[in-house]
Parts: sequence; C-alpha cells; structure tokens
Amino acid sequence: MDVEWFKEAFEHMLEGIIMMDSSRRITYMNPLAHQMTGWELAEPVPFCSYCQIRYVKEGEERCVLANPDPLPAFQATLPTYKGLNESFEMSLSPFFIKDQKYWVLVLRNPKWTTEKQQLKIKQLLIHDTMSAQEAERIRIARELHDHIGQTVYSVFLGLQSMKSYIQDEDFTSHLKKMEAGLGKTLEDIKRLSKELHPSTLEHLGLETTLRRFAKDWSLLYGVECTSDIDLEGTHLSKEHSLHIFRIIQEAVLNAVRHGDPKLVTIQLKVKENQVQFEIFDNGIGFDVKNKQSKGLGRYHMIERIHMIGGEIQWISEKGKYTIVEGYVPLGEIENERTDY
Ligand SMILES: Nc1ncnc2c1ncn2[C@@H]1O[C@H](COP(=O)(O)OP(=O)(O)O)[C@@H](O)[C@H]1O
Ligand SMILES: [Mg+2]
Repeated sequence: MDVEWFKEAFEHMLEGIIMMDSSRRITYMNPLAHQMTGWELAEPVPFCSYCQIRYVKEGEERCVLANPDPLPAFQATLPTYKGLNESFEMSLSPFFIKDQKYWVLVLRNPKWTTEKQQLKIKQLLIHDTMSAQEAERIRIARELHDHIGQTVYSVFLGLQSMKSYIQDEDFTSHLKKMEAGLGKTLEDIKRLSKELHPSTLEHLGLETTLRRFAKDWSLLYGVECTSDIDLEGTHLSKEHSLHIFRIIQEAVLNAVRHGDPKLVTIQLKVKENQVQFEIFDNGIGFDVKNKQSKGLGRYHMIERIHMIGGEIQWISEKGKYTIVEGYVPLGEIENERTDY
C-alpha cells in the first residue's frame, strides 16, 4: 500500500494524529489534529501542563508518555492556538524510519468524543424506537384489516341476509341502522389501517400515495386538501418515503387538529438535488418558538428529517397561516439504509 493510502486513512480518522521527530518537531499532522490544536508543521509540540512542571530525574524524558512502559493514555491540558489550555486525552508511541526515532501522538478531546457518542447513541435509540413503532403499526394495521375487519364484514353480510326474512317494519328499520353503522365501522377500519400503514408507499410510491391521501384527508377532515407533487425520475428508498410521508401526515393532522383551516396544501418537488416539501394551512397559526407543548409530533418530525440528513422549519403568523417546510438531500438518498 502506498503513502497516499495511509494519508487518506489518517485524514479520515476521528483522532488527531501527529507525527514528530525526536526533537518534537511536527513532521505530519492530520486535519483534525490541526483543527484541535492550531499547531503548524515543523513547529515543536509543546509539553502538556503536567510535564511542563513535573520533576524530571536525570536521563528521564520530560514527556511522561515518552518514557519506557508509559501509561496507555494520559489526560492533561495542552496549549493550543486558542491560547486556552484545552484538555486532551493523549497516547504516544515511538516508531523508527531508517534508524531515526519518531513519535506518533494521538489526541482525543474527551468532551468532544463524549458529546458525539451521546448524540450518536441518542440517534440510534430514536431510530430503533421509530423502527419498533413502525413495526407495531404494521402489526396493528394487519390485525385490524385481516381479523377485526373480516369479522365485522361477516356480521355485515349476516345482517344483509337476515333482511329478507324480516317482515316487521320496526325491525327492518332497526336492521338498516345497524347495517349503516357497521358499514361506517368497516370504512373506519379500512381508513385507520391505511393511515397506520400506507402499504401503497411500497407499491405505488410516495407521489401516488400522497395524492390519494390528500383526497381522503379532504373528505375525512372536511377541509380542502390539495397536492402539488412532482417527484418524476426520483427513486426514493422505502425509509425516505416513509419518513417524508409520516412528516407530511403529522403536518396535515396538526393543521386540522390545531389550526381549523379552510385550506391545506401539500407541495413536494425535486430542486437543486433535494426533495423539497411544504405544507401550508390557512388556520389560526401558532407561536413556533414556544417550546412548552407536551406533544411529541413536532419533535418526531425533526428527528425523522435529521435521520435522513434533511432540515425542517415552521413559519407561522398567528391568525393567518402555518407553513412547514423542509428538504432532504438527494445525495443522502443514494446511501440509504434498507432495514425498514
Ligand atoms: N398547523 C398548526 N396550526 C396551529 N398550531 C399548530 C400547528 N402545528 C402545530 N401547532 C401547535 O404546536 C403544538 C405542538 O404540535 P405537536 O408537537 O404535533 O403536538 P400535538 O399535536 O400532540 O399537540 C400543538 O399543540 C399546536 O399548539
Ligand atoms: Mg401533532
């Protein structure tokens, strides 16, 4: 493997890597090391706050990590370009090139790694919770459709066949009411199982699914819900389609639940290598900066969009309108996860 290969690997490491000669002059440093310390090539690496003042016996190296049998890692502060003494976790190991001794110093910012780790763990937990939630929704949708739906349907058919045997007018009118009630229940079951798991997403894609849902939402919520969607030529993964669908579903539901609008519009288009979306409603609006709400809807929308590398924002004027707008980069879509 050539030098370029190693350089490339070092440039992408999550630790600061510094190579220095026996007089501590920097011979190589990866971009992260430079970013962390601000030190330059050929400059000497300063001693850490501990080594600067420690008592050094004769024949001993000042750097505590440069002595035989050193600690695997050592945490201390180092002078950086910011002038601040920043805390780093360091490890140091020697290596030889043509009998010349060099050192490789590995720097980690403990605060930075813990913060990053915590963020990553949080993202993974949210991802797993959402996957579990989606799996549960699929299970409930199936149960509703296949079992409860079928049972209600057979009762519905039974009632219909009973009608011809009943002459009594009161009974017939009672039966008709029951029939209408069951018909409505069947419709509700169908709608609920569709909302829980929009199976058309997989077969027909996001565009067709949203168009159909916009029509259903108009009827269901008694508002004018229009869709202007053009995703032609864009292949969205199952994961992306589902996240975008759930975001739009929550935005529409929020509009009708909280905004009392006459009109809700859904726009989705591909522009500048992004899928851009906008959900507008002419309802009562709200204070978008108010974080007091106990609801999780907006929080989940933000988490979902971040999981696919996009951004989302709310713009609203009280008494006038609310707009939920955002985008998903198309480049991210090529690197999709497929475990949904
Ligand atoms: N389109 C909208 N019109 C008016 N208010 C909205 C709209 N979207 C969100 N809100 C406000 O933001 C709050 C938080 O929404 P959300 O996080 O989805 O929680 P929830 O819907 O469970 O209350 C809502 O309670 C509502 O006050
Ligand atoms: Mg909500």
